Amino acid sequence: MTSREIRRQFLDFFASKEHKIIPSAPIVAKSDPTLMFINSGMAPLKDYFLGNQQPPSRRIADTQKCLRVTGKHNDLEDVGRDGYHHTMFEMLGNWSFGDYFKKEAIRWSWELLTEVYKLPKDQLYVSVFAGDEKEGLPFDQEAFDEWKKYIAEDRILAFGKKENFWEMGEQGPCGPCSEIHVDLRSEAERQAKDGKQLVNADDPNVIEVWNNVFMQFNRRADGRLDELPAKSVDTGMGFERLCRAVQGASSNYDTDLWKPLIGFLESFSEIKYTGTYPEVDANWSMTDIAMRVVADHLRAVSFTIADGELPSNTGAGYVIRRILRRAVRYYYSFLNLREPVMYRMCPILAEEFSDVFPELKSQVDFVVKVILEEEKSFLRTLESGLKRIDALDLVNNTVDGKQAFELYDTFGFPSTLPA
Ligand code: GLY
Repeated sequence: MTSREIRRQFLDFFASKEHKIIPSAPIVAKSDPTLMFINSGMAPLKDYFLGNQQPPSRRIADTQKCLRVTGKHNDLEDVGRDGYHHTMFEMLGNWSFGDYFKKEAIRWSWELLTEVYKLPKDQLYVSVFAGDEKEGLPFDQEAFDEWKKYIAEDRILAFGKKENFWEMGEQGPCGPCSEIHVDLRSEAERQAKDGKQLVNADDPNVIEVWNNVFMQFNRRADGRLDELPAKSVDTGMGFERLCRAVQGASSNYDTDLWKPLIGFLESFSEIKYTGTYPEVDANWSMTDIAMRVVADHLRAVSFTIADGELPSNTGAGYVIRRILRRAVRYYYSFLNLREPVMYRMCPILAEEFSDVFPELKSQVDFVVKVILEEEKSFLRTLESGLKRIDALDLVNNTVDGKQAFELYDTFGFPSTLPA
């Protein structure tokens, strides 16, 4: 199945369960003062959970553009170093607003994964909320009992608040959740070690693919939990991870979603992409990381600009500028590229997503122009900044605070670049 087919199957499945399919909201959270960017499928739907607005239907599904680079959900540091975190990603979601609850959410997620996508049942594990004494929250017996209908008891694992109580931010709707994890190791590895021990243990091949949140509370600014007016369901499935699992790829970057971008970087830099990762390959290569970072950041920057946020020196625009500059540093330092690159990749991306996010294709000339100007200007800054650093002779000298801040400002996110 191609990624387009996988996305389509998700939407068709939930349409057949009487869900209204809605388009993705813009990636910038303009109307929510608690968020800078949309960080999950439910974020644009927050007011429906809180009862502040009526949803267009009590059942909704979509694929939402998300960006996790600030606040409670921030995956920036992992991008490129592993094969399953991204700054910008798609979250497939289905929602019930005071309509169905745990029973249907669990049944449908199992049906979709095992009957439509045909993921092998013996490679799946599920988790339920173990409860939390401090918050006065019990073990999620109801979810456990529902899962027992589909999967052996020893594959239903209980985890605490960190893993199984989902919150959108410091404030906002939240609730216990039940995750589905897939073991994508080889047959031999699966025989040698029980996958159960690797769930939630940062194994690159045993990964969470879907989260079913049972929205019951609103976290107030003072930290207290209020009951929501209705019990609702919020699910989030990482589309890139799902594609990896369905396509049997060894990482998200080896799916048809990323290959065109990585392929472009390979031919433009004349460096071969070998698909190595620090956490699994002793001989991992920095050029592989750089290609993944550039491809990832291109998506974050392009979609955000197409959604109306221009790079700037304040707020969300500043974050976008920093992400773009971070990508430039990677291709400059590790792919030896001295001219703008990302603007050339933007049309490839626009074409790839023309059916689902046409807003990029319809504005591609504009987005290309903005990215090109940013790349040109930062490459100039980089060249002159590096000359200044050479002149400072940091091996033999120290810099004062003012100079240190100037350097920080020039290079952006310095601590996140590997030595
Ligand atoms: N809202 C569910 C998730 O982001 O995992």
